[in-house]
Amino acid sequence: MSPADPAAAPEPAAEPATAQWYRHFGTVDAPGNSLCYEDWSVAIAEDPELIRRIDEWPHNKRQPLLLLAAARFLGAQISPYREFRSFLDEHWDEISRTVLARATQTNEAGRCATLLPSLARIAATEGRPLALIEVGASAGLALFPDRYGYEFDAGSADPGDPAAGSADPGRAAVTRLQPAGAQPGTFPLLRCTTTGPVPLPAQLPRVVWRAGIDLNPLNVRSPDDVAWLEALIWPEQDFRRERLRQAIAVAQADPPLLVAGDLNEQLVALAGRAPSDATLVVFHSAVMAYLDAEGREQFRGTIAELTAGRGCHWLSNEGHTVILQADGSSVVPEMDAERLRGRFLLTHNGQPVAIAGPHGQSLEWLQAATS
Ligand SMILES: C[S@@+](CC[C@H](N)C(=O)[O-])C[C@H]1O[C@@H](n2cnc3c(N)ncnc32)[C@H](O)[C@@H]1O
Repeated sequence: MSPADPAAAPEPAAEPATAQWYRHFGTVDAPGNSLCYEDWSVAIAEDPELIRRIDEWPHNKRQPLLLLAAARFLGAQISPYREFRSFLDEHWDEISRTVLARATQTNEAGRCATLLPSLARIAATEGRPLALIEVGASAGLALFPDRYGYEFDAGSADPGDPAAGSADPGRAAVTRLQPAGAQPGTFPLLRCTTTGPVPLPAQLPRVVWRAGIDLNPLNVRSPDDVAWLEALIWPEQDFRRERLRQAIAVAQADPPLLVAGDLNEQLVALAGRAPSDATLVVFHSAVMAYLDAEGREQFRGTIAELTAGRGCHWLSNEGHTVILQADGSSVVPEMDAERLRGRFLLTHNGQPVAIAGPHGQSLEWLQAATS
């Protein structure tokens, strides 16, 4: 039977793009993180009526995590898909309103663990305290690396992490750091498995000024924004929810300066407000994917200006497909994509220094970055 044979059975229609998006999320992103999101996303992919409704939203609003977080925000509990589907039907108007009003702005304080060694090294090298600017800061929870506690463990490994099994057996166990004078339980304790010669500091760096930029800064003193931040955490990840609550409590006591706007439009003016006797560090995590190639290029140019004019340092903690190399490429020659899959590449002034767990759970220092 030739393909042109009119009697031939029709080819099965390709799955619509939105359905593919949900299937990808359910089979690639969710496994290992959330059984419930795995089930729901695959079931949504196979639910043409729901896909039709999702397709009524603008393209950037159709992303799986946004719909799932909106449902959780409105009270959806872990349940079989049949019950979840009824919940969606009953609350569809509110879900639509939430999806259209909100964005995925997960704020992960745990990432401070993978930034901390670089921040401490910069402070030590420069011999001055730090002024921090985070671009794409969400609620600004990563602006408090000096107010959290840390447990860097070179002796064990999280089996769910791609770095598992490569923890350095020669390194003695655990390095603990915490803010001077703070009572345990009043700050989140960030646990991170280390591999290789991570330059762990003996004490936390001093931060004298902190500020962030976001298209839509979230306010840690707004109950609605706090509930949204909680809804963005995947259902079964209770330890991340607990860490988020503790980080929010730290930020609520002394909210950071957050400027609303595009990072490319706001950065130079905000850098001008940083105290001149502190070392300025501009950093970002999980943000570059939101920018197009032109936006990333513009940002790199601004960083180059600030580095030359202000002596600022630049830390980038991003998925390897969106990183910005000093030469403008996003290719890391010495690393194959497999090694970086599912993890972030940490660069300091454009040079790769480490491979980081995306939520700060692991830090693999690159040998070439020790000097
Ligand atoms: C996934 S969140 C990451 C938040 C935070 N960096 C963290 O690691 O927890 C990305 C944030 O970047 C912000 N964002 C995206 N594009 C932006 C832009 N052009 N200018 C400023 N902020 C932006 C989003 O609003 C969102 O809050």
